Amino acid sequence: MILYENENLKQQKLKDVTGKTLAASEVFSKFIKALKDHLLTQIIEKGKTIKPHEIRWVLTVPTIWTDASKQFMRKCAQQAGIDEEKLVIALEPEAASIFCQYQEDKRASNERSLLNRTGQKYMIIDLGGGTADITIHETLTKSDDKFPLLKELHHAIGDDCGGTQVDNAFMEVLGEILGQKLIKLMKKKQPSAYLELLREFETVKRREIANKNNLRIPLVTINELIEELEEDNIDNKIKVSKYKTQIKRNRETFCIDAELMKSFFKPTIDRIVSLVKDTSKIKAIRDVSLFLLVGGFSECKHVLHALKEALPNKTFIVPEEAGLSVLKGAVIFGHKTGIIGSRFMIYSYGTKVFEPFDPELHEMSRKKKAGGRYICPKIFDFIVMKNDSVPVGTTIKREYVTDEPQQNFMDLDLYKSDSGLTKYIDEEGCYRVCKATIDIPDPSDEQRTVEVEYYFGDTEIRMTAVETDSGKSCKTFWKFI
Ligand SMILES: Nc1ncnc2c1ncn2[C@@H]1O[C@H](COP(=O)(O)OP(=O)(O)OP(=O)(O)O)[C@@H](O)[C@H]1O
Ligand SMILES: [Mg+2]
Repeated sequence: MILYENENLKQQKLKDVTGKTLAASEVFSKFIKALKDHLLTQIIEKGKTIKPHEIRWVLTVPTIWTDASKQFMRKCAQQAGIDEEKLVIALEPEAASIFCQYQEDKRASNERSLLNRTGQKYMIIDLGGGTADITIHETLTKSDDKFPLLKELHHAIGDDCGGTQVDNAFMEVLGEILGQKLIKLMKKKQPSAYLELLREFETVKRREIANKNNLRIPLVTINELIEELEEDNIDNKIKVSKYKTQIKRNRETFCIDAELMKSFFKPTIDRIVSLVKDTSKIKAIRDVSLFLLVGGFSECKHVLHALKEALPNKTFIVPEEAGLSVLKGAVIFGHKTGIIGSRFMIYSYGTKVFEPFDPELHEMSRKKKAGGRYICPKIFDFIVMKNDSVPVGTTIKREYVTDEPQQNFMDLDLYKSDSGLTKYIDEEGCYRVCKATIDIPDPSDEQRTVEVEYYFGDTEIRMTAVETDSGKSCKTFWKFI
């Protein structure tokens, strides 16, 4: 979620449980490198003869992530030694959708044949640790085709309501009982005990909620910390807390009653239900009645129960291995990136241009004199519009000219807007998302024209440029902000 919310990813630091910080880019690249090295070792150990350059690497990200977050992950992968040309970014609900279309498991054949039907529309709800990420697909080709094409029916929708918020709710209650000071000290001095506590909660979280739910606590550590802080003993701490009737201690175990246990889940599940309900009311997809639940948190029975109760007329499917469907689908996507035929734009994208001033078209207050004529600057020139369905592989061309003799590069800014009606780049909801620099080959005194091709239907926005007269390609660098 930090990558989703943060605007300055380069500077972003992450904290471990003890409070020590490390640059996010280092954490992610080390993580990717460890996975990469593990795979390469496994290949050798299994006696396979796959060479690193023969591998296409697929990195999955939530669909709702920003362009900057995707670019950040791409940089981390490069830092981990993955060749940029060999890397594909997959969008998680899409990968899950692909997996469900192609799963070989016989038990899944009913689901598969349902999804495979030409014209079948379905919503993929990927419930993970940090996000709930929703994509809506339609199956385009016939059911006997092994690889039907999928079309996105609406732009992705999502929110930060995932399974880890349940853990946070539990830790908050624990903090109220034991005291935040003690929790802080445990994280700092006994991080393994703290992690053990989280792992223990993870086990309890995955069970059905019973009348009494037993959770093992690191009692020796807690008692040591109580002594160090010279605080009251654990039983008195429970007794004076507002949870005294809901939590009992029996030796090294907390016995949590069902109501309290449910309350850890409720806020997150409520948010997921509203998100799905609101999405299902959107006019363009109101007729979608098949809902596919994937991602780890979709294995939580309470989520399914709440969704079925809130949307009784819809059909919900939780595939076998719902938690692994993103991973497995990403592998298929790596082999067949063309499975998704088109995608919807979440935003409008455009560049900044100026036009000769026209009182019929432009606001009077924007009239400016430049080079002996009146112009209207800061116009948002649409390249693609929010809610456009863009076929994968679509390229959109724009031409730009140099301003000065011997100009050897050109700066180009890309703006993004939350609306399809934006007229000017300084309107509310419109902001710069990308700074591109295009090198001009063989600079000269003549005015030069560069044709930029934008690629919008893929999982990432890309651009290439050529100098029109010579046809030479221009080196292009772009950075999302
Ligand atoms: N049976 C289960 N019951 C309840 N929660 C579960 C169950 N199985 C997994 N989870 C929860 O699902 C979450 C992890 O899901 P997943 O592996 O899909 O997340 P992720 O893909 O890493 O996260 P994100 O998609 O947000 O980036 C964790 O919060 C985990 O506790
Ligand atoms: Mg996920």
